[in-house]
Amino acid sequence: MTVYRGHLVHLTGNPTLPDAPRHLVGVPDGAIVVDDAGRISYSGDFSALPPAADVVDVRPGFLLPGFIDTHIHFPQTHCANAFGGGQLLNWLERCIFPAESALADPLFARKVARDFCSRRISVGTTTALVFGSAFPDAQDALFEESLRAGLRTISGRGIQTVGPDSARLLTTSERAALELVGSEISRWHAADTRDPETALLHAAVVPRFALSVTRRTLAALGELYDGVRGSGVYFHTHVSENVDEIAAVRAMYDVDSYLDTYDGRFGPGSSVQGRTLLGPRSVLAHAVHSTDDELARMADTGTSIAHCPTSQLFLGSGTMPWRRTVSRGVNVALGSDVAAGDEWLVPRVLNDCFKVHISEPAGAAVSLNGAELLYTATIAGARALALNDRIGNLDVGKEADFVVIDPGQQEVLAETLARIDPVDTAALLFTLLTGMRDAAVASVFVRGRKLR
Ligand code: GUN
Ligand code: ZN
Repeated sequence: MTVYRGHLVHLTGNPTLPDAPRHLVGVPDGAIVVDDAGRISYSGDFSALPPAADVVDVRPGFLLPGFIDTHIHFPQTHCANAFGGGQLLNWLERCIFPAESALADPLFARKVARDFCSRRISVGTTTALVFGSAFPDAQDALFEESLRAGLRTISGRGIQTVGPDSARLLTTSERAALELVGSEISRWHAADTRDPETALLHAAVVPRFALSVTRRTLAALGELYDGVRGSGVYFHTHVSENVDEIAAVRAMYDVDSYLDTYDGRFGPGSSVQGRTLLGPRSVLAHAVHSTDDELARMADTGTSIAHCPTSQLFLGSGTMPWRRTVSRGVNVALGSDVAAGDEWLVPRVLNDCFKVHISEPAGAAVSLNGAELLYTATIAGARALALNDRIGNLDVGKEADFVVIDPGQQEVLAETLARIDPVDTAALLFTLLTGMRDAAVASVFVRGRKLR
C-alpha cells in the first residue's frame, strides 16, 4: 500500500461531456492510496488519512489521471514533421508509405517499438489505441516492448490489400491479410493475463482506411470481426479526414457516404453487402467532414471518434466541428495522430483542440473549459475503449493509472500557476493542461507500477 500526496485533480464518477465541470474535483493537499494490486483504495484529502509509513510526497506536484491517446501510429515514430508537398494523400504516398516500409527490417522495427514506448512514457500516455505496422515482427516487437514497459496498449496491424506503388511492401493479398490479423489476435489479445477484463494488452482489427482495402476485404473483415468482437477485440480506422480522400472513397465504392464502407453498406448505392464493423469498441479517427446522418449512426452504434486537431492542422484537413459533432451524441476522445500530429504530449493536443474550436466560425465557436479538455483526454478515451470501469479517473476501485505533473520542472509554469487561486480548480486545470510541456511530466504509473 502506498500513499501519493499531491494536488489531486480529476473528474469523479462517470460523467458525460456536459456534466464534466460538475464532476471536477480538486484537492490542493490531496492523496490517493494505491494497494498492492495496483488499485486505488482511497482518493481525497490527505488529512483524512490515518498516519502511514509509505508516503510519496509529490507536492507541489499534481496527481492527474494518465493520459489516453486514442489514435497514434507506431510505425510513424520517426517521421513527424515530414514535408508531404500537399495534403493527406500526397503526404501518405511521398512520406509515410516509404517510411513505414522500413519496418520490414525486424531490427529496425524493434528499435522503433522501444522508442515508441519510451516516448509514450515520457509524455504520460498510459493508454493508447495504436495504429500498427503492416509487419508481424514489428507488431510482436510493439506488444513485447509495451508489456516490458508496463504500458496499456491496444493495437492491430495496418491492413492494406490495395494501394499505390509506394505502398507495395505494406500491401498483402486478402488471404494473407486475414491470416495475419487472425494470428495477431490469437497471439496478443489479452496475452498478459489471458483475460480481456484484466489485460493491459488488447488486439484490434485495423484496415488503414477504405482506400487501402476492397469490398471483398471489408466483407471478410466484417465476418472475422463478428467472430471476435464478443471477446473484446477492437476495430480502428480513419474516416472522413480529407475532402479528396472522401471523393476518392465515394468514387471507388459508389457509396452515398464514407461511413457506409465500414457499416456493411459498401455495395453500389450503399447497398448492404456485409456485416458492420461499427460498435462500442470501434474508434474512427478524424470525422472532420462527417454528415449529421453519419454522426447519428456512430452514436447509435456506440462508435467513438478519435479527434486529432494537431494532425488536422498539419495536413490542412479542416477541423472537426465540435458543437455539431458532440450534439449528435457521439463520444469524442482525443488522438495525437503521430506523425501527422507532431505532438506526443496529449495536453499539447488539447492546447490545439482549444485553439481550433474557439476559432471555428461564428455560431460554431466554443471555448472549451479545463474540465471538458480533461474529460476529452481521459474519461472520453476510456469510454471509447470500453475501459471506463477500470481507468479514466482517480476514483476508489479504479486501476491506478496516473501521472505526477511537476510545474517546477518547466520554466515559468510554476510561477504562472502560483498566480491562480489554488482552490479555483477549473482555472488551474485549464492553465496546467494548455500550458504544460513534456518537461513537467515527472512520474508515470500504470496499475500502480511506476514506469518513470
Ligand atoms: N489515412 C490513412 N492513413 C493515414 C495515416 O497514416 N495518417 C493519417 N493522418 N491519415 C491516414
Ligand atoms: Zn492516423
